[in-house]
Amino acid sequence: MQYTQHNPVPLPAGGAYEPLKATIDTVFDWQYALKKQNLLNLYEKGKTLAWNANDLDWSIDVNIERMIRERVANGMAPMMNAMLNPPVHLGDAEVIEMQLNINAFMLSQFLHGEQGALLATAKIVQGVPWEEAKFYAANQVADEARHVEVYHRYLTEKLGLSYEITPSLNRLLDDIILDPRWDITFLGMQIMVEGLALAAFGVTRLQMADEPLIQDLITRVMADESRHVAFGVLSLSDLYTKEMSSTELREREDFVIEATHLLRERLLITPVFERLGWDTKVWTEWSLQTPFMRGFRQMMFTKIVPNLKRLGLLTPRVRDAYAKLDLLQFEHAKDSVEEPEVAPPQELVELLMKLMANTASNGQDRAAAQ
Ligand SMILES: [Fe+2]
Ligand SMILES: [Fe+2]
Repeated sequence: MQYTQHNPVPLPAGGAYEPLKATIDTVFDWQYALKKQNLLNLYEKGKTLAWNANDLDWSIDVNIERMIRERVANGMAPMMNAMLNPPVHLGDAEVIEMQLNINAFMLSQFLHGEQGALLATAKIVQGVPWEEAKFYAANQVADEARHVEVYHRYLTEKLGLSYEITPSLNRLLDDIILDPRWDITFLGMQIMVEGLALAAFGVTRLQMADEPLIQDLITRVMADESRHVAFGVLSLSDLYTKEMSSTELREREDFVIEATHLLRERLLITPVFERLGWDTKVWTEWSLQTPFMRGFRQMMFTKIVPNLKRLGLLTPRVRDAYAKLDLLQFEHAKDSVEEPEVAPPQELVELLMKLMANTASNGQDRAAAQ
């Protein structure tokens, strides 16, 4: 593994290293009963389907700016102004800058989330009591190292831009790592963070349909992530519905509600406005209110909500919080056991297709007129 970092990732305010004093019970399983066949099947699958970052074609010339310029030449700015109703009219130059930065911001947060997954899964290896879950978690640790590798390589070798971790994602990852209860690590990482990541990866793949390297990269990562989410669902099933006291369950509900707020905050693109020198208050307010952005943030929960339901965590308190955030619309969507793969929500696919089709046909019209 060797690549040149043209663009080292910026550091958060806390600096290069963030040590955390996590105290967890590390558990040996001396009986090796290996009774949970579904986890063993997942482990076999994980080993068979592992891939190498070197399998990707890193010689592909990635030029996102050229890609966005083509879209802008085909009429992207008027479409965005009409669709998003921004507080300031966006010209071609602003659309290019905004798109480049949003893309780099999203991919950077993917990278940081992957590092969180690497550490959280290592913690699961130690804390989960069953040997077969340790096997699978060890397999996932290797997956996550590879995910950090490919996103980091893409950001520093191929893109000219990257972002430090947002404070809200940083806090959520810290919460997950610091919590001594092994099921909270699963709940926070496998159900919440990876559930959201699956939806976000799908959308990014769709938005960058004309960039072959990121297509291959995200497709490979998503195949792994769908196993990781399934690992969480299989490991936690029965625990919340059959084995926990009401006090313990209440603590899990609190965690889910808090994590949901942090994840929604992580989806705000305020750091992009800051980097561009735009009025962060005005633009953040706009992104909170504008229907497209609100819809986009809600759609990130398409997998989380049905998975929480399967685990028995869509309790009246969580339902109440989710109703306020308009997230209950996904409660009847397929969970990760019924459908491990995640397709981006149909409404979003249609919207993006419309945008791409419109810009493409405008371009053809223009070419024809010349
Ligand atoms: Fe990952
Ligand atoms: Fe993962």
